Order: sequence, then C-alpha cells, then structure tokens
Amino acid sequence: MNKRAITEGVFLLGAVDWNRRLFDALIPLPDGTSYNAYLIRGSAATALIDTADPAKQHVLMDQLKDIARVDYLIANHAEQDHSGSLPQVAEKYPQAKIIATPKCKGMLVDLLQIAEERIQAVEDGQTISLGNKTLEFMYTPWVHWPETMCTYLKEAQILFSCDFFGSHYATTDLFVKNQTIVYEAAKRYYAEIMMPFRLVVRKNLDKVMARDIKMIAPSHGPIYDDPAFIMDAYADWVSEDVKNEVVLPYISMHGSTEAMVQYLTGALAERGVKTLLFDLAATDLGKLAIALVDAATMVVGTPTVHIGPHPAVFYAAHLANALRPKLRFASIIGSYGWSSKAIERITELIPNLKVEILPPVMCRGYPRENDFRALEALAETIAQKHAALS
Ligand code: FEO
Repeated sequence: MNKRAITEGVFLLGAVDWNRRLFDALIPLPDGTSYNAYLIRGSAATALIDTADPAKQHVLMDQLKDIARVDYLIANHAEQDHSGSLPQVAEKYPQAKIIATPKCKGMLVDLLQIAEERIQAVEDGQTISLGNKTLEFMYTPWVHWPETMCTYLKEAQILFSCDFFGSHYATTDLFVKNQTIVYEAAKRYYAEIMMPFRLVVRKNLDKVMARDIKMIAPSHGPIYDDPAFIMDAYADWVSEDVKNEVVLPYISMHGSTEAMVQYLTGALAERGVKTLLFDLAATDLGKLAIALVDAATMVVGTPTVHIGPHPAVFYAAHLANALRPKLRFASIIGSYGWSSKAIERITELIPNLKVEILPPVMCRGYPRENDFRALEALAETIAQKHAALS
C-alpha cells in the first residue's frame, strides 16, 4: 500500500500484517496487526515517526523511495516492531537526526546497534520546529516499555501515541470505522501489555487528556478521528471500578472439575453474578486477559496432577499474576484423587494479586452433595462481596 494522507502534510506509512498470529512469541493476534509510521512535512523540515517491523521493512522502504529528504526520525518506542527498520531508514537519510527519550536512546544503541552520535535525546515537553509545524515530545513511560513517549503535532492537534491506544487489528481503514471491533482489539492490547502498569498508564492518560486532541494516531491499528472513544475506554480500564463478574479459567480431566465449574456458574447466575468461563484446553489467552480487565473475582478450577494444579492452570495463574488486574477476590475449586496441594501451589503463584482469598472448594473424586453445598456457599459469599462493593 502507498502512503496515505491523513491531513495536510501528514501521511500514514507502514504496513498491514494480515497474517501475523503471535506477537513476542507470546500474544495471540487473531486479527493480525499493523505497524504504522507517519510522515510529517513541514515548510522547513520533514519528520518520520516510528518505522516498521523488520518483516515489513520492504513496504516502508518502498513508500520512502520518492522521499528525498527526512530531517528527523522520531523513535517513540524502542521495541523492534516500531524501531526494527530504523537502521535501514537512518542509512537512507544520513543527515537525519534520530529523536528519542534518553532511555530509548540507550535501548536503540543496545538493541539495534545504532551509533550513539546519530541519536539526540529529548526532554519531556521539548519541541522541534518543522517550519509551519511543531512537534512536542511527551514522556509516557510504560506504554509499553519504560522509555516510551508520545509525539504531539501542535498545529493539527494529532497525538502520535505508538503502542498507547493501539489495537492489533489489520485493516485498510485509515480511521476507525467499527468501534465495537476496535474496542475489543484495543482492550486485548491494553490487557496484555499495559494492565500491569495501570496506575502509570492512568497518569499518562491524564497527561495527554489535558491537551486538545483532534486525532490519535497509534502505531498499531486504525487512527482515531473520534479520540474520546478510546480515551473514555482507557479511563474505564485504568479506573478502580470493577464489574460484578467472575473470571473462571479452568481445565478438567475426567469431568469432576467441569461439574463443579458448571454448578458454581449456575449458582452465581442465580445470584445475578456474571461468570466468564475459559476452558484452558482450548481458550485464547487474550480473551482471558480481556476478561481480567474488569472482573471483581477470579476463581481458578483445576484437577490435581502430581499433587499440584494442572500445568495449564499453572500457566494461567502465572499470567494473571503477571498482568496484575484489579481483582478484589480470588478462590480455587477443583478435585483430586488421593491428595492435593493445588490450593497452596496456586496461592503461591499469585502474590501480585492484592485479593482476598475466599474459601476454596476441593473435592475428592466426583463432587457429592456436600461439595455442591460448599459451592453454593462460595457463590453466596462472592455475591455478597460484590454487592458490598457497589
Ligand atoms: Fe508495538 Fe511495544 O511494541
């Protein structure tokens, strides 16, 4: 695809990666992604913001073939999906200065082996003039790494936000057309890479919301010409509010844990509590991450394997701990054949979750009447705890 104009003197470059299905060898990308770069032509100078993943470098270089001069190469973020083509772009424009935060400068040197003297570190709030256009650099750490910044084009009031507000969503739409689809893609991205830094993200959100912003141009997914849509969504995600929901990742080997999970789900529904079930034998972990953004409670369901929880549950509990969602309560249900340390092992896996642990229910063999009564009691406790939050 060729470069496309967004507004006077501002163009979208980069590539849509329709077929990428995994990011960082970890994060599922069911809808592909894009690596957006932006060319800004002022009356006196030209800047390029971000580049593209090395896998799509040829697309970006082709878009730049008719651009004779670029004066500034802005690196909002050092991760290679945005900076990976920077060495080749910098080689094409040997007079161009690379602009980055001081932390990003160090990372570009370490990760891409770019010569230090090519990179100019900028302060928070520093500006550069392109003649009739002005770029201001705003430090926004932890969206997604500690070195990240946004670039604000003052005259057009466009925020170039890199990962912040981004969505892994492959589309030819220049601007967001379907907010429902982009909402889910952006929430998945927030959950997977920014939720662990929620409080810092909230500060960054307040910082950028203090500006007049007509458009948000992220480096993944379509551009927001209605920026309130994504800023309101972020405000909700980073808030202290939790929803009357239980996230229930589980796995079952011979049906005992499945029976308990289904019983608890019904008992919660009868009390007006929504449950989101994730069978870890088949689930997209990105969906689980999305559910963790809002839920008040997580209940983990596991059979016992070699005394401890099932390895899939181990992984899911570790992931939840790493993502640090704003959960308030947690519990464990499941089964065992002769003995189990599943409760102890899972509890040890989630030290980052500042949750109250509600009484677990582990049954020996297939659940009996007393086990179902215990699940009924757990559902009642969860419903009461949730009611007390509102
Ligand atoms: Fe899209 Fe943190 O890179």
